[in-house]
Amino acid sequence: MKILAIETSCDETAVSIVEVSGAFPDAEYEVLGTGLYSQTDIHAEFGGVFPMMAKRAHSENLIPMLQKALTEAELLEAGGDALSEEVLSELQHILEREPALYAALTTFLEAYTVPEFDCIAVTNGPGLAPALWVGVNFAKALAKATGIPVIPVNHMEGHILASVYDVVEDNKLASVAFPALALLISGGHTELILMTDWTHHEKIGHTRDDAVGEAIDKVARLLDLPYPGGPLMDKKAQVAVKKQLPLYAPDLPRPMLSSGDFDMSFSGLKTAVRYLLTNVQLTEDEQTAFARDFMTAVCDVLLAKTSAAITEYGCKTCIVGGGVSASSFLRERFKSYFAEELSDCELYFPDPALSTGNAVMIALAGHAHIDTKRTAKSVERIQADGNKSL
Ligand code: KG4
Repeated sequence: MKILAIETSCDETAVSIVEVSGAFPDAEYEVLGTGLYSQTDIHAEFGGVFPMMAKRAHSENLIPMLQKALTEAELLEAGGDALSEEVLSELQHILEREPALYAALTTFLEAYTVPEFDCIAVTNGPGLAPALWVGVNFAKALAKATGIPVIPVNHMEGHILASVYDVVEDNKLASVAFPALALLISGGHTELILMTDWTHHEKIGHTRDDAVGEAIDKVARLLDLPYPGGPLMDKKAQVAVKKQLPLYAPDLPRPMLSSGDFDMSFSGLKTAVRYLLTNVQLTEDEQTAFARDFMTAVCDVLLAKTSAAITEYGCKTCIVGGGVSASSFLRERFKSYFAEELSDCELYFPDPALSTGNAVMIALAGHAHIDTKRTAKSVERIQADGNKSL
């Protein structure tokens, strides 16, 4: 089976082609081709993702990314057919809000043959609604032109599966022992998800204000680091450890540690940083030490809530996913904590290339729900849902 996967929930325009042999969750997943366009440079001057700019960039980049993925997969074949007036008008209707994409798609369909994919998996939430709609409408238009069924996919489920997908050794998902706990940490989400099996998800905790990635990016700005600050904060934190720099802000708060539930809060921590930095000029080493001390406070909160949930629910597995899980500083902290305190619980992180937005994880989640694929009429009813939850 070949899955074409599409991801446009935030600021990455991603298309992947994944060949699947076997049934979920024991299948082998071979990534045949990928096109990934990161819009970071576009959003850098705004200091965050600007939804309408993201939408436009997705419209412009989906066809180039599709062509790149097809070329890499050696599936790009010249020889499309002229499209009938009827099909053209249906595609125009589906893509009426994305005229650039309509023009590029029709040109593509007349020049190339679309391979016989078994299904198209597309992220339909959560994320930025204008950005999500571009991917969803693109999937619908492709389905209309080719008859290929579509599976709407939850982006967060993609993050979970990416974390247990072994892209180096065997191209398979790990054999996860349940119950499992997923800690999902990204620019828009911070949540703890209890999984009793692969497809049963219960949200048992979440941030009550800022997502952890959002807080890290905002603190990076306060430290005069360019957007997106997460990767730089991470690098600085590691440098501080290596250089054994003295503590600069050891008393940063660890909010909600004794709240008695699994919810979190990061806005107070961010505000504490703002106060500490007002009218202060840091040296380079102090800035580096500050990044480490802030990341330490973040990790303390995440570890405390995660380990309490693991103990409460007797979890045998902990799956960390989302953009912030790319942090090497965080990975080190988690690994040493688990080795000392939770050695019975298996800990998983995604391959670094699959930590942030990508379409491989959308193919994995699509395959998990292959039985829900929508054909013909019901494809039309697929909606983008910015607040979709697991
Ligand atoms: O999952 P993601 O790519 O997008 C969504 O928000 O959905 O997550 C982006 C977040 C940003 O806040 C970014 O700064 C953070 O992940 N991030 C990192 C690292 N790489 C990305 N944070 C810490 N260390 C990193 N290496």
